[in-house]
Amino acid sequence: MTRRIKRHRQFELNLTIKDDGFAKTPRDSQRNWFLNRIVKETSEELLELDRLASGMVRGSDHLIDLDRAQGMLGDDDIMEDWQIPVMEAMASAVTQQGGDILEIGFGRGVAAGFIQQHQPATHTVIECNHEIAAGFDQWKSQFPDSDCRMITSLWQDCLHQLDQYDGILFHTYPLSDDEFIDTVVRDVTFAAHFLSAAHQHLKPGGSLTYLTNEFDSLSRAHQRALFNYFSQFSLSMVSNLDIPETTRDALWIKQMLVIKATK
Ligand SMILES: C[S@@+](CC[C@H](N)C(=O)[O-])C[C@H]1O[C@@H](n2cnc3c(N)ncnc32)[C@H](O)[C@@H]1O
Repeated sequence: MTRRIKRHRQFELNLTIKDDGFAKTPRDSQRNWFLNRIVKETSEELLELDRLASGMVRGSDHLIDLDRAQGMLGDDDIMEDWQIPVMEAMASAVTQQGGDILEIGFGRGVAAGFIQQHQPATHTVIECNHEIAAGFDQWKSQFPDSDCRMITSLWQDCLHQLDQYDGILFHTYPLSDDEFIDTVVRDVTFAAHFLSAAHQHLKPGGSLTYLTNEFDSLSRAHQRALFNYFSQFSLSMVSNLDIPETTRDALWIKQMLVIKATK
């Protein structure tokens, strides 16, 4: 039996390892080093949560009460305005190498408009909701000389139609409560279920960009998920977001991280 206790004025962390063969390293000092690190990091996570908690907005518990897959949605149902600076940052990250851009999730066309400001060679958009996709032609009329095209489909159903891209921007949301549980609650980050497909459709040196609700840093589990497919990644923080108390989004804090993962 191995025990570690970390006491703090406001909490106490207890770790009990019941199996002496668990995490058995060649030398005991190595095992001690790792276990001490885990307890210290968990304690630091709690203190950071305490520091950030007072800056969060109330929001609401996440319930998908709309037909997101095919229903007619209002702007706020698709994406609340406070995320617009994040779209600008993602569009800038995904177009850094120029070339051919794939965007998953057209939504209100905000990120698409920012992508066009960077004049990509081609811009392919995938959108599953037919009502939302119907707005594409009008949006495109603002950019008459650009090579933009829409694929109206779930991204999962049209992978066979895709080429190789220099940049992929992934910004969808769960379409049902089941998808929310699988991808947001159970997975390390919502985009995790897309990493393999992104890797398959990026040119060497191409990059995937997405946002995460780990708002101040990336967890080790998230970094490991990225390293399964990508050789490097960078993070940029978009802060001072004007998130309202009444947000219906599953994010409650004034900052978000944009990830750029490079193949
Ligand atoms: C948050 S919105 C995107 C907002 C967009 N970035 C903007 O700037 O306006 C997410 C979009 O992804 C679409 N979507 C969700 N799941 C999808 C899927 N599996 N395949 C294709 N589109 C999907 C939704 O219909 C919605 O339009």
